[in-house]
Amino acid sequence: MGNQRKIKVGVFGAYRGMTMINVMARHPDAELVAICDKYEPLLERCKKVAEETGSKITYYTNFDDFFNHDMDAVVLANYANEHAPFAIRLLYSGRHVVSEVLPVETLAQAVQLVEAVEKSGKVYSYAENYCYFLATQEMKKLYRRGDIGEFMHGEGEYVHNCEPIWPRITYGDKNHWRNRMYSTYYCTHSLGPILTITGERPVKVVGFETPNAEYMAKLGYGGGTSGMIVAQMSNGATVKSLHGNLKREPSSVWYCIYGDKGMMESDRWHEGVHRIHLFRDEEKITDYEVSYRPKPRVTSKLAAMTSGHGGSDFYTMHYFLEKVLGREDGENCIDVYQALDMGLPGILAYRSICNGNVPITVPDFRNPEEREQFRNDSWCTNPEIAGDDLAPLCSFGSPDIPDEVYEKVKKMWEENF
Ligand SMILES: NC(=O)c1ccc[n+]([C@@H]2O[C@H](COP(=O)([O-])OP(=O)(O)OC[C@H]3O[C@@H](n4cnc5c(N)ncnc54)[C@H](O)[C@@H]3O)[C@@H](O)[C@H]2O)c1
Repeated sequence: MGNQRKIKVGVFGAYRGMTMINVMARHPDAELVAICDKYEPLLERCKKVAEETGSKITYYTNFDDFFNHDMDAVVLANYANEHAPFAIRLLYSGRHVVSEVLPVETLAQAVQLVEAVEKSGKVYSYAENYCYFLATQEMKKLYRRGDIGEFMHGEGEYVHNCEPIWPRITYGDKNHWRNRMYSTYYCTHSLGPILTITGERPVKVVGFETPNAEYMAKLGYGGGTSGMIVAQMSNGATVKSLHGNLKREPSSVWYCIYGDKGMMESDRWHEGVHRIHLFRDEEKITDYEVSYRPKPRVTSKLAAMTSGHGGSDFYTMHYFLEKVLGREDGENCIDVYQALDMGLPGILAYRSICNGNVPITVPDFRNPEEREQFRNDSWCTNPEIAGDDLAPLCSFGSPDIPDEVYEKVKKMWEENF
């Protein structure tokens, strides 16, 4: 593809997708041509962006019609558990795909997704934006430069109590993926950056969860309140990844890496992922303990105006376009294998939890023989996908949530959001 042509982009899902729409409509390498969402009020909101940017956008409420639109690449910002089937269809149709979190709902989908990427030869990029914070990008640079030596232990946290916004993000839909999600599934915000920073992958995981808290049950969520993954990494390092609806304000988005020559971490309170603290255990270094705000990698106006998630939302789109255009910076994308290294631990840690916290090996999907045994593995908490292999929503048991709860949440959504 010549470097002069703009990539024709479609966006599927216009709630979270609005952030991507805002970037793609303004990016010099992209032409936003189509948006699909079955909830029409969201499409109305998009028309304002089209006006502001002079974009000629066709709007769809039906995916099959959207699928037939002339476009080179698609941003998947639909339901978190439904990315893989759409990604697979799009890849086989010759489109490049950038997928929101999570990559897959089951191991069987992971097999099919890898095959679709390999056979189609198209770009698949995983939009784990937490890998592109100022702090996480800087920690990657320092780690790869050898500042703290060899990776020994890492911790990642995404503790976000969504209780106050639950009506806005589930709208009282009993079957919304957020209501059906189990504790360790949404793991890549906490675990992903550790992998991106160090380049190591998890080889074994053990999972733990907390029981369902009443403050979540009364809003319609019956799963474990928080999930913890303990992992052994490919180089022998250990990792703790924690996420969920624990009580804390502001939410905790925090990363910490220990090496054999020092350690570094992002700020845990006031400046969060805008600041890092670094300690280097070397005689010749006088500034062995430093704390600073890393500079952004890209300083364009568009990067500066994309403030969502600490500015990280710009990079997932930008690097994806760079990759499609065959440019060097595209190497910052997260490929399908790395996406699964980040995402499969969430599924496998829950399998560990449901089996008495046993250790579970994390298969490397780069290896066709290793992945083959999971071809028919549809174990998950979604009855439509799992069939007979349905997992419970919480290992401690789930509360009975009457339909009136969802009706009440729906009312809260209609009245307040
Ligand atoms: N990376 C981040 O920081 C971040 C933040 C928020 C959400 N997300 C991710 O974004 C995705 C979407 O989440 P959300 O918060 O927008 O909520 P959501 O999942 O409720 O919204 C999905 C949207 O897609 C539309 N949609 C889904 N299936 C469709 C179909 N078959 N046809 C037409 N429209 C369809 C829905 O109408 C809805 O507007 C999820 O994957 C979530 O994990 C990521």
